[in-house]
Amino acid sequence: MWSGRFREPLDATFESWQRSFPFDWRLVPYEVEASIAHARAIEAAGILTSEELLLMIQGLRAVAKQQAEQGEAIVVANPQAEDVHHYVELELTKQIGDLALKLHTGRSRNEQIATDMRLFVRAAIDNTLEGLTAWRSRLIELAESAGEATMPSYTHLQRAEPVLVAHWLLAYVSMIERDASRLTDARKRMNLCPLGSGAVAGATLALDRTIAARALGFEAPTPNSMDATSDRDFALEFTQAIATLGIHISRFAEELTLYSTAEFGFLDLPEAFSTGSSAMPQKKNPDLTELIRGKSARLLGAATTLATLIKGLPLAYNKDLQEGQEPVFDAADTIAGILSVLPAFTRALKFRFDRMKSAAETGYLNAMAAATYLTHKGVPFRKAHEKIGNAVRFGLETGRELNQLTLDELRTFGEEFGEDFFESITLEATLDCHDVIGGTARHRVADALKDARRRFTSESEQSPVKSAKIT
Ligand code: ARG
Repeated sequence: MWSGRFREPLDATFESWQRSFPFDWRLVPYEVEASIAHARAIEAAGILTSEELLLMIQGLRAVAKQQAEQGEAIVVANPQAEDVHHYVELELTKQIGDLALKLHTGRSRNEQIATDMRLFVRAAIDNTLEGLTAWRSRLIELAESAGEATMPSYTHLQRAEPVLVAHWLLAYVSMIERDASRLTDARKRMNLCPLGSGAVAGATLALDRTIAARALGFEAPTPNSMDATSDRDFALEFTQAIATLGIHISRFAEELTLYSTAEFGFLDLPEAFSTGSSAMPQKKNPDLTELIRGKSARLLGAATTLATLIKGLPLAYNKDLQEGQEPVFDAADTIAGILSVLPAFTRALKFRFDRMKSAAETGYLNAMAAATYLTHKGVPFRKAHEKIGNAVRFGLETGRELNQLTLDELRTFGEEFGEDFFESITLEATLDCHDVIGGTARHRVADALKDARRRFTSESEQSPVKSAKIT
């Protein structure tokens, strides 16, 4: 690709070590589309005739087809290819002869790799959004089918207050909504075309850059050639958004792992997604959720690699950027893998609502509702807290819950206790006293669930303008 200037051949070990074809081969479909777009632009600039353009497009499509048939095998089959750009040019030459050598007029590999990576990330965002939609849908269905089932909520992993199971599940729906909006937002920002930026200072041909931009489904050409060839913010944003999504999924996985233990007993792990132990016959292991927890570490690793890679780079293109490809591929593959199993796993979840409910009813989870009762009788909250605290201690000493204490016993802690105390600390009353937007009162959760369903439906109807799928 640059032999003209050199007298000595490359050191053989260095040559093979610096190649990117062993991993960037997967960019072939994007490299081909970007090359077709560039061919259109140089035809408009008078470098190719319209017949030559047609031949070139046919040749490029043949290269893509061949790669689609052979997959990764093209790497071993083409030991002379240094990178994806080199490979496509070599193959195109086999297809259409010397005409292929005209393709590189007015372009540089620096703008090509920036374009290929944008196309890859854009497709990866679309795939992730699709997977997220599926998971979000399963969570909403699960919340709908949970009805008024209750469970304890935890702070410090200690039982805190009862909540509806649907309320807990909707917490994850909120996280997913933010994840989807982060990805959609990043997609909008990155959807600009670097082609025509040249090696660093802009193409040396007076290209109409809007031609390639339009052909690739980009919003417009990038506004600065130095930025366009060295910018990897889109990869950084993608890996960071995916890392954050991974953190959310990992928290879900962690909760389910805990809830499936005998100690909690809230959940029977779906057998189709669990494994046994080769040593201990009684075991059913939560491999899926554990593996998801583990994979979220890789996602964070990818984001960290990208950030570290970019932070010290002078403008514009530097070869270091080649190292930014694999973490992006790995993040895309890892999240695709997670989202290929998570929706089906979520659908298969069977909660033990009886155990969840009894956990929500024991351990004084109604103590805050009880203190609130006293505040309605005019007791300042700090005092109410203390009186209920005393009642709880007495309950602990005598092995009873608050609703098992007699009115006379309660009155020794405060004269404000009345008969109506007992109805204000039932499970239902304890839920319903959280009657605020975002609270777990039953009618609030019913509304929240309807809202979540409505947002889901309207967002999936107006699904984002998808790029012409390049696979
Ligand atoms: N394989 C290279 C990369 O990923 C392509 C760009 C090469 N450009 C260059 N000036 N050496 O970054």
